[in-house]
Amino acid sequence: MIASVALMLMAAACGQAGEKSGQNGSYVSLAGAKIGGPFTLTSDTGKTVKWDDFKGRYRLVYFGYTYCPDVCPLDLQHIMQGFRQFEKDAPERAARVQPLFISVDPERDTPAVLHDYVSAFHPRLIGLTGSPQAIAAVAKQFAVVYGREQGSGKPGASAQYLVSHSRTPYLFGPDGQPIALVPVDDPATPEAEGKPEQIVRFLESQVR
Ligand code: NI
Repeated sequence: MIASVALMLMAAACGQAGEKSGQNGSYVSLAGAKIGGPFTLTSDTGKTVKWDDFKGRYRLVYFGYTYCPDVCPLDLQHIMQGFRQFEKDAPERAARVQPLFISVDPERDTPAVLHDYVSAFHPRLIGLTGSPQAIAAVAKQFAVVYGREQGSGKPGASAQYLVSHSRTPYLFGPDGQPIALVPVDDPATPEAEGKPEQIVRFLESQVR
């Protein structure tokens, strides 16, 4: 299972399909994977946030960037719609889950930019950014590969460029250990693996 996860993590382009999840009703387990770990970043409200601040809570972690033209917003929309339904179905369990969106484009994704973005998906979604060095270190810890597309603009707040990145929707447990990949749509298949109802089913099965 870890091997297939590694393969998925190699799919660096934002638009590329990840590992197909949800086979036989199970999910891609991340048990034992060496991902996650301590970090200190800045939230979309400008607060200093550490990984350990969420100790005792499940963590839904999604890496992306606010300027992403397609995959990030679609995944986030599905995941957060599913989360919203899960909150209605199982409010006490949902309260133990913290959704996090970590930027791989810290030069443009300032706290203010992130705040507008995450607020549009869910009031409890926290956006995280930091220095390019801090983000690079966190991405490495979480086995996320990313990079600015060649020839797609110069660095800077108004620059137009794309950022390739692994598609890594992770669920972590209260102990900070990875549990499984959140099911997201695989564009290569006709099935709807990552629709909100699938997210609800996933959360129902994984969050105690
Ligand atoms: Ni993206």
